[in-house]
Amino acid sequence: MMTNPELVPILTKEEIQQKIVDIAGIISRDYAGKELLLIGILKGAFIFLSDLVRHLSIPAQIDFVRASSYGDTMSSSGTVTLAHTVQIDVRNKHILLVEDIVDTGLTLSGLQKYFLSQGPASIKICALIDKYERRETDIRVDYTCHTTHEGFLVGYGLDYAENYRGLPGIYHLKI
Ligand code: IMP
Ligand code: MG
Repeated sequence: MMTNPELVPILTKEEIQQKIVDIAGIISRDYAGKELLLIGILKGAFIFLSDLVRHLSIPAQIDFVRASSYGDTMSSSGTVTLAHTVQIDVRNKHILLVEDIVDTGLTLSGLQKYFLSQGPASIKICALIDKYERRETDIRVDYTCHTTHEGFLVGYGLDYAENYRGLPGIYHLKI
């Protein structure tokens, strides 16, 4: 049980919005004229995806996947178990996987393999936060709002034991 965890501000809600406007502009330019499918990874990406899609200046379809809680359900080879998968046919679509935070990278490399086998036109990664200290795979984060070395972050969709998702900013949780 945590007693009085300290929340150290990392990004304010205004800073997050500005970063999202910036990457949404780049994504809109990169995918102009292409069939873009945003696939949000539940639950953490729900707020980020909802803001991101509203700043795109191109049409995009949206779907979600839910990867089962990581650790016991995922092998080191990056095989990921899905509790919920997409409804939309991904064949010939340009997939952008939207994640809250990339840590070891195992979740995303597993999802990348899973979707690659379904014949998309392309597949790239957009993560609100790219945390690289514990990276175990060679996946590349194509679009990000913030890069950090380490630390457990919460807020704006990110949780610690299902808490703090609703905070408008992003904080470093110090226990
Ligand atoms: P990965 O497979 O290790 O990259 O796992 C990424 C997942 O771990 C994210 O989708 C988060 O659910 C969770 N996670 C990793 N680091 C953090 C953090 O700093 N705050 C909140 N969740 C995290
Ligand atoms: Mg997550």
